[in-house]
Amino acid sequence: MAPGGPIFHELRGLILIVCCALARCSSYTSNTVLETSEQTLKPILEEEFEIGYAQSLTVESPPIASIKSVYQSIDVYNSKHYGKVLVLDDNLQLTERDASHYNEMLAHVPVMEYLANCGNETEPIRVMVVGGGDGYVVAELLKYPQVRWIDHVELDEEVINVSKENLPWADGWKDERVNLVISDGAKFVKDQAEKGIHYHVIIQDASDPFWYDTMGDITILPSSVLYELSHFESLHRLLRSKGGVLMMQAETYNIPSNLEAIRKWRNQLQGIGFDRPRYGSISIGTYSTGQIGFLTAHAQVGDGSNHEEVWGSGSTCDDNVYRMDVLPEMLWSKILSQFNNMNGTTLYYHPRVHRSSFDLPLWVEKSIYGSDVCA
Ligand SMILES: *[C@@H]1O[C@H](CO)[C@@H](O)[C@H](O)[C@H]1NC(C)=O
Ligand SMILES: *[C@@H]1O[C@H](CO)[C@@H](O)[C@H](O)[C@H]1NC(C)=O
Ligand SMILES: *[C@@H]1O[C@H](CO)[C@@H](O)[C@H](O)[C@H]1NC(C)=O
Repeated sequence: MAPGGPIFHELRGLILIVCCALARCSSYTSNTVLETSEQTLKPILEEEFEIGYAQSLTVESPPIASIKSVYQSIDVYNSKHYGKVLVLDDNLQLTERDASHYNEMLAHVPVMEYLANCGNETEPIRVMVVGGGDGYVVAELLKYPQVRWIDHVELDEEVINVSKENLPWADGWKDERVNLVISDGAKFVKDQAEKGIHYHVIIQDASDPFWYDTMGDITILPSSVLYELSHFESLHRLLRSKGGVLMMQAETYNIPSNLEAIRKWRNQLQGIGFDRPRYGSISIGTYSTGQIGFLTAHAQVGDGSNHEEVWGSGSTCDDNVYRMDVLPEMLWSKILSQFNNMNGTTLYYHPRVHRSSFDLPLWVEKSIYGSDVCA
């Protein structure tokens, strides 16, 4: 909660106007902090050295919460336009204003596809959420009466504690359907698979697995374990017998190393036996380049009728055929009726945006789905 009563807020508003005027007039560069008597504005800078791109979001400093956990620094700032902003190790994680874009897609796409494919109005659904300590995905999942059990595994309990205190949606852990496990996600997945446990839906809301620095060197980040082949295999084991659906954060197509990774992960998922692994796109202004995406895949092989072959401009090897996996038409009426059961409580997700998220720019589709052999 923000400190102070209405007078404090009016004062703060005035200070903000002054600061914003300053920000417009001064030639202000990255990491410049604008001083006023009570408050400063500071930019949270996101730099993508690989493509020479940066974006920045101005927040009010000092943060309203600031904690150093065993794993990372955790800060929550107020901002004028984007509401509260969660920052981990100086990397923007989400803003109150557009967190719905990412989190609603991560939660609803797999549950809707599961319900449309296998489930019915009363079928109990068991979900695992890996990561997502801000609690948004869990809160969205709780909108389904069919979701009866959620194992939520998060490494850093401090992220959960800070989110509980500062973010409006983060009280899903109070719900008796949620089992919070403070643990390493990759280890938990492996252990559950070895125990022979099964889920209908698994959602992996992980942070970036790697990063390129100013020198063009790659840094492998801790969540890279969640993108390894052996981990994907464990996920498949957890989902297969239930005809389950996988959803995982899968980076942006605007950065070449990320696009290459998307293609690799998709091919790996397909190689393991996942059906219809597809990359879906989310428009979100506060993530680098304004775009992020996900991979979603079904754990049981379908009837093979749902493919669409697409050609480039001709028959040359440069414009080779690629095969896009599409969902059968008839599922959408079921998804629409499930959506209506949510009483208009989503901000970004709706069935048409779900369906169209898989329609990518042509060059992206070719990069992700294009075959290496000349057709
Ligand atoms: C829905 O699923 C439940 C649980 O699997 C099952 O008992 C029930 O018969 C199903 N209902 C229909 C209409 O398919
Ligand atoms: C988070 O909050 C719970 C409940 O208040 C507390 O037991 C726990 O120690 C906190 N976790 C950390 C890492 O501070
Ligand atoms: C939608 O409305 C129905 C009827 O009032 C209610 O039972 C249900 O919980 C609501 N669902 C959500 C997600 O708000």
